[in-house]
Amino acid sequence: MEVATSEEVAVTGVAAGGEGVGRLGDGRAVFVRGVLPGERVRVTVTEERKRFARGTLVEVVEAAPERMAPPCPQVEAGCGGCDWQHVAPAAQRELKGRIVTDALRRIGRVEPPPPDLGPELAPEGWRTTVRAVVEGEGRAGFRLHHAHEPLAVGPGGCLVAHPLVDEILREGVFPRPVGEVTVRVGAATGERLVLCTPTVGDSQVAAGVVMVGADELASGHRAWIHEIVAGRRWRISAESFFQSRPDGTEALVDAVVTALGETLTPGATVVDLYSGVGLFAGVLGERTGGRVVAVESSRSAVADARINLADLDGARIVRSDVRRWHPSAADVVVADPSRQGLGAEVVPRIGATGASALALVSCDPGALGRDAGLLAADGWRLGSVRLVDLFPHTSHVEVVTGWIRPN
Ligand SMILES: C[S@@+](CC[C@H](N)C(=O)[O-])C[C@H]1O[C@@H](n2cnc3c(N)ncnc32)[C@H](O)[C@@H]1O
Repeated sequence: MEVATSEEVAVTGVAAGGEGVGRLGDGRAVFVRGVLPGERVRVTVTEERKRFARGTLVEVVEAAPERMAPPCPQVEAGCGGCDWQHVAPAAQRELKGRIVTDALRRIGRVEPPPPDLGPELAPEGWRTTVRAVVEGEGRAGFRLHHAHEPLAVGPGGCLVAHPLVDEILREGVFPRPVGEVTVRVGAATGERLVLCTPTVGDSQVAAGVVMVGADELASGHRAWIHEIVAGRRWRISAESFFQSRPDGTEALVDAVVTALGETLTPGATVVDLYSGVGLFAGVLGERTGGRVVAVESSRSAVADARINLADLDGARIVRSDVRRWHPSAADVVVADPSRQGLGAEVVPRIGATGASALALVSCDPGALGRDAGLLAADGWRLGSVRLVDLFPHTSHVEVVTGWIRPN
């Protein structure tokens, strides 16, 4: 049963999910959304557990200097899309650095070097892939925090969406049975695509936008856009993963190159695990001129990678679950797993390549902490930590760690 008590709390830390952390009078930790370290806040306890509680912000009694008024009007209306709109952009990067350092120390038991907080990327108008739900009137929207019915993006638009995406979110009409839309654009090419789930039906969008239904993709139809990043042109199919913003993708590539450092010698063999459409394999392969091996499980991404890496002599694209992949020899490895991280089945496979350098791209601090512990136990040493703030105004973390392993 929920217990609605309210008390004043000093916020002292930040959790990986973006909540502020403080202590209740009885000593238990309490996690509260929308608050910042250094603040005194009044909270209502909404979830009681033995060792911790969750609370809802009632009032900011003493605000941190980093607190700001959310720049997006949709926050007031309850949009749950961006959980850190109340945090000044520079402080967002600093807090993410704290989250990463804490995960490496506390979960991985690894002492990291001070994190490089990475480049400052534009906080607004950046997102080139957006997944939205469709509300009752057939308009694209986002789920409200703590409510089921979504909030239509409407004429005010979405602050973080790229203008080419925003126009579709504001003006597109997606009558039932459409329940969800994924809007994807190429910022450099201007190409636009909307994937409607389960089907396109009577949807209407601006002329020139490619529309495809999940039902069509399931029966073998293909649809894609192109983007240009790091001087290369990428084919990206409707179902393939691609990073959410091109400037952030450039920054991520730069972070991987820096993490690998001097090991990225001419002729070096590169293995790119969880390669998607071939991003790191393509850039690193072009740079070293050596052999590249890209490993990816998605049929759609593998088909794109075959096109995207066609100019690289001898590039090998392996369609496999990395957990079952038979390692091949490498000088350097880059691995960019999804939220669950590498895990105990993949870390020994990386070691079995014989590589002396690894760039690990992590999008979940907890998974990074667990992977760090596994890598350290397997003889890897953490050399560098660089964040790339792909998702400003949210607590989402993207981080590249550089690892070395003496052979
Ligand atoms: C975070 S994305 C990274 C893609 C690519 N590195 C990029 O930056 O565009 C993770 C990719 O791993 C793939 N993937 C997820 N689990 C996998 C697994 N167990 N084995 C192989 N690929 C996997 C997904 O399909 C996705 O393309």
